[in-house]
Amino acid sequence: MAKQGILDIVKKKNIGFVRLWFTDVLGFLKSFDIPVGELAGALKDGMGFDGSSIEGFSRIEESDMLVKPDPATFQIIPWIKEDRPVARMFCNVLDTTGKPFPGDPRYVLKKNLEVAKKMGYTFNVGPELEYFYFRNKGGTEILDKGGYFDLTPMDIGQDLRRKTVVVLEKMGIDVEYWHHEVANSQHEIDLRYNEAMIMADNVMTYRMAVKEVAMKENLYATFMPKPVYGINGSGMHTHMSLFKGKRNAFFDPKDKLHLSKTAKYFIAGLLKHATEICSVCCQWVNSYKRLVPGYEAPVYVSWAQRNRSALVRVPMYKPGKENATRVELRNPDPACNPYLAFSVMLAAGLEGIKQKYPLPEQVTGNIYDMSESERKRRKITSLPDDLFEAIKITEKSAIVRKALGDKVFEYFIRNKKDEWNEYRRQITAYELDKYLAIL
Ligand SMILES: Nc1ncnc2c1ncn2[C@@H]1O[C@H](COP(=O)(O)OP(=O)(O)OP(=O)(O)O)[C@@H](O)[C@H]1O
Ligand SMILES: [Mg+2]
Repeated sequence: MAKQGILDIVKKKNIGFVRLWFTDVLGFLKSFDIPVGELAGALKDGMGFDGSSIEGFSRIEESDMLVKPDPATFQIIPWIKEDRPVARMFCNVLDTTGKPFPGDPRYVLKKNLEVAKKMGYTFNVGPELEYFYFRNKGGTEILDKGGYFDLTPMDIGQDLRRKTVVVLEKMGIDVEYWHHEVANSQHEIDLRYNEAMIMADNVMTYRMAVKEVAMKENLYATFMPKPVYGINGSGMHTHMSLFKGKRNAFFDPKDKLHLSKTAKYFIAGLLKHATEICSVCCQWVNSYKRLVPGYEAPVYVSWAQRNRSALVRVPMYKPGKENATRVELRNPDPACNPYLAFSVMLAAGLEGIKQKYPLPEQVTGNIYDMSESERKRRKITSLPDDLFEAIKITEKSAIVRKALGDKVFEYFIRNKKDEWNEYRRQITAYELDKYLAIL
């Protein structure tokens, strides 16, 4: 939408004020409000803010920064019921000279999408974000004993899911379907895939909408990857494809799997760099409590058609559905920064295409049931066991440094090491239960 178009709508809809949204390096949504009288100026020159108070942005001595709203992201916020409606716009972060700020996750994704564009591709993404509803913020009291695709009386969440879908559709976000997930109190709303930048913005809006709708019902929604020991965690399986114009470049009618060479190189890139990009796709200490054998989450680096124990899955081809040809990366979780996660996934896939990486044999059996020696014989490696192992691998990765840019890369490594050091100093309830009485 053009700037003038927004100013006309603001007048016509009697909008009261606009929320300017942007994201810090860890994927937390940041926002400040402006009265509509400031909007024309903000659209033209941006709005100043103090960058030194934002994770990973700037030091105090260089803290003046600008946010410039992206006209294409103008939407009225349905969950704010005021006399005058409130709208939101995602922003690009700039330095005071108006140049893009290299620490802005949205700019990081933009740069990676430009690399794909130069190769003739648009990058389409369809993430499946799972989440839990709990009685309140302070605990993990589940709301139902429901399971996969369950309904009332087992599924209290269906009203909440439906209300959330209504909100998302009002904000121009297409939803394909929604259902109860495998674990008690766990849910999923499936967004229709879209171009990666639009989808990253949609993921930010989705997380906010799910939480806002739950809060309205005095309940709490969380995207914490593994909030409860012993039941499934919440993942963000990410379906991906590259298009050339309107044609799905992953599709090849002559191939027995209907997969093009491009798709196979892309999968090979995801596999080769899987451990390097893991810390960005699964960025919290808690993320690795989900990536353990025995649940649906992947642990081993492998690919296959259909096989849900593989890291990269190629959903079955359906005749007439060429455009649905895609690959699914299954380790990301919904607490990632979508701008950075989509950036490193794309960079890994494109590297496979640039270098023409050979694609290893697909693994059709259940990898969890394989013996260590069998996995060794088939050269099936594992994802990192914990955040520290993951961050050490990322730190040496030229692919991830290039995809994130030095500013974000160095801040991310530093921040995650701090998080790990803080974690490893904790005396956990598990230790007290296990050791206090016997040692
Ligand atoms: N060409 C494409 N590129 C990227 N994403 C796509 C493409 N075609 C479809 N998708 C997306 O893939 C996702 C498929 O989700 P769906 O829940 O069917 O996956 P699934 O992995 O089979 O399910 P589950 O993990 O719940 O068993 C949807 O978000 C859909 O929009
Ligand atoms: Mg899936």
